[in-house]
Amino acid sequence: MKILSIETSCDETGISIMEAKGGIKDASFKVLANNASSQIDVHIPYGGVFPALAKREHIKNLPIILEKTLKEAKLDKKEKPIDLIAVTYGPGLEPALWTGIVFAKELADKWKVPVIPVNHMEGHMVSPFGKEKGTFKILKTNYPVLSLLVSGGHTELVLAKKVMDYKIIGQTVDDAVGEAFDKVARMLGLPYPGGPQISKLAEEVRPKEKQSPFSLPRPMLHTKDFNFSYSGLKTAVLYLVRDLQKENPNILQNEKIKSQIALEFENAAVECLVHKTKKAIEQYKIKTLIVAGGVAANKHLKEEIKKITGKKAKLLLPAKELSTDNSLMIGIAGYLNYIKNKKKVPRLSSIKATGNLSL
Ligand code: KG4
Ligand code: ZN
Repeated sequence: MKILSIETSCDETGISIMEAKGGIKDASFKVLANNASSQIDVHIPYGGVFPALAKREHIKNLPIILEKTLKEAKLDKKEKPIDLIAVTYGPGLEPALWTGIVFAKELADKWKVPVIPVNHMEGHMVSPFGKEKGTFKILKTNYPVLSLLVSGGHTELVLAKKVMDYKIIGQTVDDAVGEAFDKVARMLGLPYPGGPQISKLAEEVRPKEKQSPFSLPRPMLHTKDFNFSYSGLKTAVLYLVRDLQKENPNILQNEKIKSQIALEFENAAVECLVHKTKKAIEQYKIKTLIVAGGVAANKHLKEEIKKITGKKAKLLLPAKELSTDNSLMIGIAGYLNYIKNKKKVPRLSSIKATGNLSL
């Protein structure tokens, strides 16, 4: 069947079309077209995503991307080009989510096709199976599966003892790790999104100085639970920068100092993620570890995670293009849910944007 998927939860407008077949354990996909429009440039002056602007940009871009995607998939002349529409309904920015949902409902009415609402975090979870082009399959996965989901809005450890059965065993008690990367980048005068910028700075000094001369806290590292906290770490960077600026107001013009701060921040942020993930792998005898979400693109995190999985657990990571938000992952999760629910979908009128949707 042909599935069209729509992602508008944050600052990326994405639409893709895939041909999907098979069951939840052996589904296979062929990408027919995949397009996206990033709003990063629009949000840079605000240092983060500005919801009203995100909504405006999604509304403007959705019809343009749809036309391009249908054309590329060679479906634009068909009356009913698609069999199923998958759309993100949460979590995310509600004004942004609504644009995708309204758009999906209009298409569903026009083409008389069902709509399956998709949880964005489940999308991230299946992203390691996807490819930007060509064909791919859901790989055979051994359970229990642990997912470390790390994005701009989420930091959570999700346990699945069986297929598509999720339990959040730990999460951030305040800020998400991606949000901390973004805020620290801002403190260092770097543009949004901050994760790749911080990572680039840190990598400039990492090969030479494994340890930074600065020292930042590792919040909640030794708590018995699987939770995280990033607000205190972010504030510690704020105080560090403030103290350094007292001695030298132009300190942030010193690239080396900035890189050393970025290195210590990245080390602290990653150490907390890796430590709790390792504990969860041991406690739940995890066979497969998935690390996904925008922060999964972080090189240092990937390297440190590889050290803890070893031979015990198989590590699944998304391709770089599929770690940040994209519509392909929504199509994969949408199809799997459609099959799992025996092709039952909710009434169109009951599909609503749910900003704080949980797994
Ligand atoms: O999953 P995503 O694209 O959007 C959300 O659902 O939030 O994640 C975006 C987050 C941003 O906070 C961004 O700074 C972070 O992912 N990010 C990174 C890297 N690339 C993106 N963080 C650290 N290192 C990276 N290389
Ligand atoms: Zn995301």
